[in-house]
Amino acid sequence: MNAFPQLGLSKDSILAGLADARGRDLTADGRAFAFIYDAGAETRDLAREAFAGCMSINGLDPTAYPSARVIERSLVKACLELMRAPEGALGTCTSGGTESVMLAVKAAREHARQTRPGIAAPKMLLPVTAHACFHKAAHYLGIEVVSVEVGEDFRASVTDARAKMSSDVILVVGSAPSYAHGVVDPIPELAALAEEHGTLMHVDACVGGLVLPFLRETGVEVPPFDFSVPGVTSMSMDLHKYGFAPKGSSMLLVKNRAIRDAHYYACANWTGYTIVNSTTLGSKSLAAAGAALAVVQHLGREGYVTLARTMWRATEHLLDVVTSRPELRLLARPNMNLFAFTTTEGDVFELADRLTARGWHVQPTYGFGSSPAHIHLTLDPSNAPNAEHFGRDLEACLVDLPARMEAPSEALAMLTMLEGAGPSDEATAIDPAMLMGALGIENGMLPNASAPIHRILNAASPALRERLVVLFVGELFV
Ligand SMILES: Cc1ncc(COP(=O)(O)O)c(C=O)c1O
Repeated sequence: MNAFPQLGLSKDSILAGLADARGRDLTADGRAFAFIYDAGAETRDLAREAFAGCMSINGLDPTAYPSARVIERSLVKACLELMRAPEGALGTCTSGGTESVMLAVKAAREHARQTRPGIAAPKMLLPVTAHACFHKAAHYLGIEVVSVEVGEDFRASVTDARAKMSSDVILVVGSAPSYAHGVVDPIPELAALAEEHGTLMHVDACVGGLVLPFLRETGVEVPPFDFSVPGVTSMSMDLHKYGFAPKGSSMLLVKNRAIRDAHYYACANWTGYTIVNSTTLGSKSLAAAGAALAVVQHLGREGYVTLARTMWRATEHLLDVVTSRPELRLLARPNMNLFAFTTTEGDVFELADRLTARGWHVQPTYGFGSSPAHIHLTLDPSNAPNAEHFGRDLEACLVDLPARMEAPSEALAMLTMLEGAGPSDEATAIDPAMLMGALGIENGMLPNASAPIHRILNAASPALRERLVVLFVGELFV
């Protein structure tokens, strides 16, 4: 068959083809402890219907599609209320956490250009535990990242942030919580530091924004992290994570209109229509935002509180399992239902492989700075009922777990020559297909025994890691 068929195919065969393509995808079957945020069939079905109903709304022009305004304003209002935003605060629906963060950084850059025009080389104070999308934003927007160290509990060090503060800093960042370790940074102290220096403060609540307020309602102690903290000027929160909405839905909230207008982009410098975009996209679908609004209205506060309680109970159970075993070490006690643990002597990647062999999906994560190689677990309503089963399997996988193994030095030496090399550098040319073959990666799927690959990537420098993942993923799309 031609890739572009001469004649249209039947609906049945098209849909069968798509279903076939999805056949090996992760699903909300309760065995995935990463990627999946699922509140059950009823919510999913409602989201699907709302998504389909809102598919043709084009947010490019809210005057031509008034529904875009209705949906966005309703969702923004709900999120502002949840984050205890002050009068005058505003928000924008975005396509995901990365876009919310990029726009927050852009807003800070433009805001500084307007209010502090002397800054030639803008900087951002960024804890090493903040999500990589801040580095991406800095890369796209020409901002220098000033890394802030974390303490033993993986919370940002306020002392280090203070030491690194300068008159060129346009934004201070804190996470609520950080993805890897699930801990909330000391937001009041970071925000006070930002305020003291007349700079903006962004709280990244992409993963926590729709859990922490509800967890607090269940009686769990949640540190201050929202707009009620003086000095917080913007927040990101993802509806497509613990909002349980389909992918493509996040929110950027800002304290006032001056910051909000600073992330807008307008252009009349061409022969066509004058554009004004609140986000990075031009034409943009409101399907995911419509579905997010539907899910928020369907679950209501009560629904989210119930789910937060379920996820936290399951998390507490697994924290007990991890902390009761001398073979394991919890990296930090989390503020919500995602956390990181490692092995004391055993091979952590072998442990991940053993869990995979038992049908679980976990996230092996490489060492960086003071954070060692570990396994990350994200709990959601779909896997929470399996926490006890998973805990038993985790304990069973510890039996005769081999000691930590090093990456083969020859493989690492060979790959190290790639470090810093451009894609077209002849001297370091490497056949990506051959490399994938040698590592056992077939059709884009990691082998079940993927510990050797993880050991190599873990031993590689961050620069080499970046080069290798571009090579791997690039090869999937050749
Ligand atoms: C804390 C945090 N911030 C930002 C992001 C980026 O979100 P997205 O993948 O939706 O772009 C994530 C994703 O996991 C996250 O956990």
